[in-house]
Amino acid sequence: MEILELNHISLTYDGIVNILDDITFSVRSGEIIGIVGESGSGKSTLLHVVLGLIPDGAVTKGECFLFGRSNLERKRSELKKLRGEEVAMIFQDTGRYMNPISRIGAQYKEYLTAHGYRGRKNCLEKEKEMLSRVHLKDTERILHAYPFELSGGMRQRVGIAMAMSLKPKLLLADEPTSALDVTMQAQVVYEMMELRRKYGTSIILVTHNIGVAACMSDKLGIMQNGKLVEWGNTRDIISCPQTDYTRTLLDSVIEIDDERMAGKNE
Ligand SMILES: Nc1ncnc2c1ncn2[C@@H]1O[C@H](COP(=O)(O)OP(=O)(O)OP(=O)(O)O)[C@@H](O)[C@H]1O
Ligand SMILES: [Mg+2]
Repeated sequence: MEILELNHISLTYDGIVNILDDITFSVRSGEIIGIVGESGSGKSTLLHVVLGLIPDGAVTKGECFLFGRSNLERKRSELKKLRGEEVAMIFQDTGRYMNPISRIGAQYKEYLTAHGYRGRKNCLEKEKEMLSRVHLKDTERILHAYPFELSGGMRQRVGIAMAMSLKPKLLLADEPTSALDVTMQAQVVYEMMELRRKYGTSIILVTHNIGVAACMSDKLGIMQNGKLVEWGNTRDIISCPQTDYTRTLLDSVIEIDDERMAGKNE
């Protein structure tokens, strides 16, 4: 079943530059999609459009169907309810979306109660369970902290824990691992794969790291200047890339691997 369908999505600011340029693709239930592309190519904007968060001043064309219904047909309140329960997002810069003067625990509880959790004890249990899944061990301290009292990587993991709490049908992950060290990256990737395995969650994973995208995703999209310049099964793209840009991206991973191997043999 297709849970997301983008039909000829374009987005411009002031009607001048095409930030997104005629993007069409679909996501099936349980699929993991990797989106890779250079900085400024429109990856985050694309995820915001899927969530129905069109930035002020932007004009869009085309249609985005979530679970078979166009976002255009949905009321604002309906879209708001969808966010979190059905579609959750891990934001690229999680700290920016947190309230700086409210403790992590209060924000987490507010998020859970807005989506049907009842009772302090229930919320606390869920918060602790999810934080330990992303290997935040000192849960009492974290829940009691203000966002600025945590490191960037810790805030990122809080954001990941919150997004995974409600077992969404679709998880939009915008550079979820960029603020994390390599061991933590692997653990977060593992938890996302578990979400798919246990609950059939579909994931759109935006990343600069084509290596992570290649090992995690079933399908891969490559973006450049607002266009989806490549789209297909990950294996096909890796074995037979169609554009020079994709070849360059893949070569850079292979070169690093080669250098590592050369280093090992010295
Ligand atoms: N609110 C805004 N007003 C005007 N232009 C914007 C706005 N938000 C984003 N843009 C522009 O849209 C383009 C795409 O931005 P976007 O954040 O989607 O890129 P990205 O691919 O996610 O980049 P990165 O890899 O650095 O996160 C950029 O040129 C950016 O300057
Ligand atoms: Mg981005």
